[in-house]
Amino acid sequence: MLADNHSPKKTSTWLNAGSVRWLVVCCLIWLGLGYFSSCIMDRQTADAFGHNTAQVVTALIYQNVSANDFAQGFGPELINKLDSRFGPQFLNTYQIRSIELCDSAGKVLYATDKTNIGKYETENLAKISQSWLAAFEEDGLSIHSPVKFADLTGNPGSVEISLASGEWDKLIWNMRLINWAFIAASALLMLAAIYVLISRATVTIETKDEVMEDLNNRLAESNAHLSQTSAGTVSALLAALDAKDRYTARHSSNVASYAVKIGVRMGITPADLELLQTAAILHDIGKIGIPEHILNKRGSLDDREFTLVQKHSELGSQIVEFVYLLKEAADIILFHHERFGGGGYPKGLTGDEIPLPSRILAVADVYDALTTDRPYRSAVPSEKAKQVLMEGRGSQFDPAVVDAFLQVIEDKTAA
Ligand SMILES: [Fe+2]
Repeated sequence: MLADNHSPKKTSTWLNAGSVRWLVVCCLIWLGLGYFSSCIMDRQTADAFGHNTAQVVTALIYQNVSANDFAQGFGPELINKLDSRFGPQFLNTYQIRSIELCDSAGKVLYATDKTNIGKYETENLAKISQSWLAAFEEDGLSIHSPVKFADLTGNPGSVEISLASGEWDKLIWNMRLINWAFIAASALLMLAAIYVLISRATVTIETKDEVMEDLNNRLAESNAHLSQTSAGTVSALLAALDAKDRYTARHSSNVASYAVKIGVRMGITPADLELLQTAAILHDIGKIGIPEHILNKRGSLDDREFTLVQKHSELGSQIVEFVYLLKEAADIILFHHERFGGGGYPKGLTGDEIPLPSRILAVADVYDALTTDRPYRSAVPSEKAKQVLMEGRGSQFDPAVVDAFLQVIEDKTAA
């Protein structure tokens, strides 16, 4: 039975539709992680570069401009001074496109592009209160930094720096390249690790499948051997009974035939039918232990002899219990002389207390006993035997079993 339950070994590849979907989802997650980390690195690179540039520019402003200058406005002398500090060489060195100094209202007080002096940087008014800010432009980087003086609360002005594409730009692209290389390498490493794990797990499962298949095959062989041994045991028991009492051996075969037909009629499962047949064949095997002169006695049995004959159901049950595969038939044999309404032997059970196979055997047993010749009387006609069954319906026999059996006989007659 266990061999039948064994699942066949599956030969499947790890690269199937499910794993491809899983792979696509993983790739999308990896791409998302790569994009997210790239944005963070761009921001941090721009901030670091912008902060350094702002520090260089504001250091020069603090050396040349006072807080009063922001309040009073820049004169030509101060503008010339700043021009000399923020000359072309300085701007080229730090790749700066333009520098503007604004007061707290956003008015441009100084600009490397002189056309902007006096204009208002309305956009920068919103930035004026912030500490500092670097923002990407279409072709560069915009840096805003407040101008602070230690003896003043608040910011009297701010500096706006526009950086052209250059070193910071290259740095960002290099960081992006490193980021994506790291993402791709980690993805490949992870996939390789998963592939190795799945391959090893598959090998382990296949090895276990082979071991289980081998064990199941051995178990099936053992079961087959056990079944053959049990069949041999049944044959040996029947042969022993036949040698002692030819009538009982033939009777057992007839009872088994009737019992199986009743069982089929009552819808018993194939497995239970097999058990019923075995129990029917062996139901009187206990008569091996009854003296021959009592079994074949012509005439009535006295009380002592009758009590001895009644022991055959218990004796038969004890005999089959010794055989492993026949154990389940023991109770069926033990109770085949119980009466549906009570008063039978050995336990005096009633109704459903008596196993259904035993109730079936009771009907088949009496019908065959009546319709075959015995040492002490001749066989009665089938109609007479059916009448006996009807008279015992509900008292000696289970009514449902009697009805099923009569239907079996009618079907046989009609056929
Ligand atoms: Fe019996």
